[in-house]
Amino acid sequence: MALILGIESTCDETAAAVVEDGRRVLSSVISSQVELHAKYRGVVPEIASRAHIESILPVVHDALQQAGTALPQLDAIAVTHRPGLIGSLLIGVTAGKTLAWAADKPLIGVDHVQAHLYSVLLDSDVQPAFPAVGLAISGGHTALYSLKSFSDVQMIGATIDDAIGEAYDKVAFILGLGYPGGPTIDRLAREGNPQAVRFPRSTLSRGSLDFSFSGLKTSVLYHVRGHKGQQRSVKELSPDQIADVAASFQAACVDVVITKLKRAIIQTGARSVIIGGGVSANAGLRLAAQSLPVPSFFPKAQYCTDNAAMAGGLAYLHFQRNDFSSLSLDAITHSQFTRPSRAEKSSAIV
Ligand code: KG4
Ligand code: ZN
Repeated sequence: MALILGIESTCDETAAAVVEDGRRVLSSVISSQVELHAKYRGVVPEIASRAHIESILPVVHDALQQAGTALPQLDAIAVTHRPGLIGSLLIGVTAGKTLAWAADKPLIGVDHVQAHLYSVLLDSDVQPAFPAVGLAISGGHTALYSLKSFSDVQMIGATIDDAIGEAYDKVAFILGLGYPGGPTIDRLAREGNPQAVRFPRSTLSRGSLDFSFSGLKTSVLYHVRGHKGQQRSVKELSPDQIADVAASFQAACVDVVITKLKRAIIQTGARSVIIGGGVSANAGLRLAAQSLPVPSFFPKAQYCTDNAAMAGGLAYLHFQRNDFSSLSLDAITHSQFTRPSRAEKSSAIV
């Protein structure tokens, strides 16, 4: 049995969790900064890192206490050390290294995006079949991956502009809804007519696995405020019209994601689809994923948005391989899993 403490501070949530054998979550504590950032309609990096400093040790303390354990009983300490905001990452990485050193425990650095995909296994006994297509969709990420296992991951497509969660948050702002906007739009979409407005579906070139959401967002802006010279206010829309725009925007997002997943399944011969990240909580997407030709796996609701259980869970795979990090582990802003460079691609073809 392996008991791993996970720490997460890549963006605006300070989180710690204790996970047993990679699947069973004994505790998962999240201190959210949403209220601090709401008035700025997005995460302010400097405010985020300061808030992480204040919360990190109390959050770790609560996670250990709720799991009924203590530092000496742990088998390892894991921390998401990439990708994320540098100031935020540094707080979690420094806390993880310090605790590992003080308690003389192995340290495991994990990738946040890979952890989002791994989260489908938390508190569950599902066994997705490989090869699989992975889809990470959140406020900061929108990318497709080809997975031979949860440890063998290769990026096959990504957004060329906004992340899908960012588009949800910006459209929520245009509609005068709160931040973060994803959950509100998802809820309103159930009441509105998804065919009320035909927003554009940008699927890029034939066969492309990349995404683009900025045109869709601009299209919503023009629909609500009118083109130059018209200058309508969102206040002129009735609640029913706002629900219709939310439903129509969500329908466009879901259509694009399902189109890309179908393409990726064909191109990689995938036997399952694994979806993680904040937007994987979306009810419309979960419903539409049932139309895919292979089974799809989503995390439990509490493990969709940023959390530390996904770090403590994924770390178990590193633990089993004795793949530990040194105390010189760095905070890194980009993911380990980026698109192969042109040179790598051409050598692969040769
Ligand atoms: O994974 P996450 O907590 O943070 C990042 O790594 O970015 O994702 C947060 C994002 C926000 O943009 C939020 O609006 C979106 O996930 N989100 C949703 C839903 N719940 C959260 N988007 C669409 N539908 C939802 N139900
Ligand atoms: Zn995330």
